[in-house]
Amino acid sequence: MQKTLNNQLKTIIALFGVLALVVVGISSANAEPSSNVAWTSETRNLLKNADIANGEKIANKCGSCHGEDGTDATPIEEEDTPFLAGQIAHATYKQIIDYQDKKRDDKMMLKKVKSLSKQDVADVSAFYATQALPMPSVDAAKVTPEAIRLVTRGDGDRFLPPCAGCHGLNGEGSIVDVPALAGQNTSYFITTMTAYKDEDRENDIYSRMRFIASILTEKEIEELADYYASTGTGTELLMVESDEEEVSPVEPEEPKAPAEPSS
Ligand code: HEC
Ligand code: HEC
Repeated sequence: MQKTLNNQLKTIIALFGVLALVVVGISSANAEPSSNVAWTSETRNLLKNADIANGEKIANKCGSCHGEDGTDATPIEEEDTPFLAGQIAHATYKQIIDYQDKKRDDKMMLKKVKSLSKQDVADVSAFYATQALPMPSVDAAKVTPEAIRLVTRGDGDRFLPPCAGCHGLNGEGSIVDVPALAGQNTSYFITTMTAYKDEDRENDIYSRMRFIASILTEKEIEELADYYASTGTGTELLMVESDEEEVSPVEPEEPKAPAEPSS
C-alpha cells in the first residue's frame, strides 16, 4: 500500500527532528539558546490581543524599507529586504525579539526595533499578518523540477526534509512561527539561506535551518529562491491536492510547470 505524501513528509520530518536534536545535543550542550522566545501563554496572548491600529502606526516607520504594507510598490530586491506583509504574526514577532536580544545579528535592524515594547512588537506583527502576501516576482516557467522535488519530497539520501513539510504546501508558513516564503524576493532568500549555511544567522531553534542550508548547494538555494519568488498572492501551487493518495507532483520525465497564475 502506498503511503500518502503527507505520511512520507511526517516520517522524514520526525527522523530529521531526532537527528537534529542529537546533533545539537552533541555539538552545543553548553551553547547559548538560539532564541529567547518561548510560546508561553503570556506571549501568545500578546499576539492574540494585539492592537492592529497601533501596529499600523508602528509599521509606518518601517515602510521606507519594507514598503507601506510590507511588500512595497518599488523594488526592494537589491536591498536584501524581506517582505513582512502576510507574514505569520508569530514568525515576525520571533524575528523582532531575536533582533532585540541580538540572537539575530543585524545592527541596523536592532536600531529600528530596540525601543519597541513586547506589546508593540506583537501589534506590528499582527498588523502585517492582516496584509496580503506579495505578488510573484519570478515567472513560474523558470522553476526547475529539482526545486519542486526539494520542496515537495526533500532528499532522503541527504536527510533533507521537504520544505513544504514545515513551510506549508503553498509556502504560506505554519504554526507556530514557521515563516511564509511565498513571494519572498530572491535576493533576500539567497542572502538569508547563505547566512544560515555560513552560521552567520543562528537564531533558528535546534539549528534546523542551519542544518538544511548546510546540505543545500548554492545552485539549489538559487533554484529554491526562484521557486518561492514564483509563488505568492494570485498563484495556485502545484501541491494543493497533495492530501490525496498517489498524487505524484514530480515526474522527472515530464516536469510540470509548478505554478500557474490563477488571475
Ligand atoms: C533601513 C531599512 C529598514 C527599516 C527602516 C526597517 N527594516 Fe526591517 N529589515 C531590513 C533588512 C535589510 C532586513 C534583513 C536583515 C537581515 O538579514 O537580518 C530586515 C529584516 C526584518 C525582519 C525579519 C524578517 C524575516 O523574514 O525574517 C523583520 C521582522 C523586520 N525587519 C521588521 C521591521 C520593523 C517592524 C521595522 C520598523 C519598526 C523595520 N523592520 C524597519 C530593513 C529595514
Ligand atoms: C523542520 C521544519 C523546517 C523545514 C523542513 C524547513 N524549514 Fe525553513 N524554516 C523553519 C523555521 C522554524 C524557520 C524560522 C527559523 C528562525 O527563526 O530563524 C525557517 C526559516 C526559513 C527561512 C528564512 C525566512 C525568513 O523570512 O527569514 C528560509 C528562507 C527557509 N526557512 C527556507 C527553507 C527551505 C528552502 C527549506 C527546504 C529546503 C526549508 N526552509 C525547510 C522550519 C523549516
